[in-house]
Amino acid sequence: MCGIVAFIGDRSAKDVLIEGLTRLEYRGYDSAGIAIIEKDKIEVFRAKGKLSILKELVADKELTASIGIGHTRWATHGKPSYENAHPHFSNHIAVVHNGIIENYLQLKEELIQKGYDFKSETDTEVIAHLIDSLYEGDLFDAVRKGIKRLKGSYAIAAISEKEPDRIVVARYDSPLVIGISEDDVFAASDIPAVLNYTREFIFLEEGDVALLRKGSIKIFNGEEEVTRESKHIDWNPVMAEKSGYKHFMLKEIYEQPRGIIDTIRGKYSLEDGKIYFGEIDFERINNIKKIVIVACGTSWHAGLIGKFYIENLARISVEVDIASEFRYRNPIIDEETLLLPISQSGETADTIAALRLSKKSGAKVVSICNVVGSTIARESDGVIYTHAGPEIGVASTKAFTTQLVSLFLFALFLAQKREKLSRDEIKWYLGELIKLPEKIELVLKHDKYIERIARDFINFKNFLYLGRHYNYPIALEGALKLKEISYIHAEGYPAGEMKHGPIALIDKDMPVFVLGTKSEIYDKILSNVEEVKARSGIVISTVTEGDEDIRGKSDYVIEVPSCIDELTPFLNSVVIQLFAYHCANLLGLDVDQPRNLAKSVTVE
Ligand code: AGP
Repeated sequence: MCGIVAFIGDRSAKDVLIEGLTRLEYRGYDSAGIAIIEKDKIEVFRAKGKLSILKELVADKELTASIGIGHTRWATHGKPSYENAHPHFSNHIAVVHNGIIENYLQLKEELIQKGYDFKSETDTEVIAHLIDSLYEGDLFDAVRKGIKRLKGSYAIAAISEKEPDRIVVARYDSPLVIGISEDDVFAASDIPAVLNYTREFIFLEEGDVALLRKGSIKIFNGEEEVTRESKHIDWNPVMAEKSGYKHFMLKEIYEQPRGIIDTIRGKYSLEDGKIYFGEIDFERINNIKKIVIVACGTSWHAGLIGKFYIENLARISVEVDIASEFRYRNPIIDEETLLLPISQSGETADTIAALRLSKKSGAKVVSICNVVGSTIARESDGVIYTHAGPEIGVASTKAFTTQLVSLFLFALFLAQKREKLSRDEIKWYLGELIKLPEKIELVLKHDKYIERIARDFINFKNFLYLGRHYNYPIALEGALKLKEISYIHAEGYPAGEMKHGPIALIDKDMPVFVLGTKSEIYDKILSNVEEVKARSGIVISTVTEGDEDIRGKSDYVIEVPSCIDELTPFLNSVVIQLFAYHCANLLGLDVDQPRNLAKSVTVE
């Protein structure tokens, strides 16, 4: 999730672009760059790292240009570096892009045959060369032809020094808005970028391509010229960076359907019932005898569910270890071990140490990570990237569900390779998986209702979360979320363990959050609810639509759509995230930056 901005009008393009990128930096901060047309020549300024470095670079540059494009990067293809920084250019054309081009390797091959010389590892440079290869004096026409060849998601802005009075933008499955103010025309990935200049916005629709000139906008979709109604947006810039949400955490909870779509994009074919993990050289890992997942905090909870997926679907034994314990317990690791570190940041010290220790013992390392170019990503033999985009809130939410979906796909991938599942069985699982984003949207509709429930519980001092099988780790995650942002003490437990101790805690002051969605062991979790009620405990339950039994026994019920056992953790995750969020928000706490915590724990 990068941020792009473009401008043509009567102002200093440099100032407008830098201001825009400053407002978009929450979308990515691996590198930044601008391209402007100064005296009919394209000038490009790029810098690796935070935007402040680019700002320094252009600060004393006397630039009169009033047309330009800009980009702040969240790396997906190619590590954070100067070469991989946008804008990318080809002869007289410069391009910035937000999204993922799935068929970029194939297009790259074609363009290399045509003599194009690639300077970066990015999918975006392919777009610049592709447009140049199709250019016959009309940038608008070349972009429209070029996007027909692209598969994946894109929001693009392109300029050419041969046509210094126009910008061409296009979008498909990636956000792009146009801002208008008298003769000034702006385009950006998100409203915050240009909110200081205008409140009038046009939201481009899927497949729209627009020609921006001073004081004019022309939009095409396919061969048709179309008009798009403009809307007045009444936000202030800070509100806008959170897209109108009060906290980044809430915004990131709502971004989970998008995160899952982006994470599975290009990794499966429903028609063929096949899973692809181009980033993993399977030959190097096909002799593995065991998998060891290492992680910390929320990522460790994802690992526990990963174990259930891989053992159940691919029949390989999986150990799951907390990295800070793993590194000092002299674990049995050898050449037949596949180490699977899971980390949102890719910089967690204990997980890095576990990785290095295992490599020394000959293990192969395939990590699941959200940050391209991070230490864990760099030191792994293969990386499965979660495409959650930058996660700003300290409490991990969208990174968690994108880790889960990567683990589910990886389990199907191993099952496919080891012929543990037939093509039809994989097709069936994929069919269920692609319905997930919509089902999460339905759970998000309970937001206000969950807030009302939370209002009744913010004064309690202790909580117990219970779940079984795939939802036992969600009980752990629910407790962690509540602890880390509302500071209410909570414990998560596999429900079957209750009778072995925690049931002693149950009384009218101990609320119990039960993940009671339908599953093969539904009756077991029903009896756990009855045990709690028998000791006058207060029960909040998630149930599957149409459920009667657990609903009838619970004090508060949150209904989620029905889905296969393996995918219920996704729906339950959203419920426990929203519950913890509302408790913390109602208690007036700093939800995005809770006390004593850091987004990435880079020390032991
Ligand atoms: C979760 O909400 C916390 N931020 C924390 O437990 C986190 O999951 C843990 O520090 C691991 O971080 P990582 O995924 O970046 O390695």
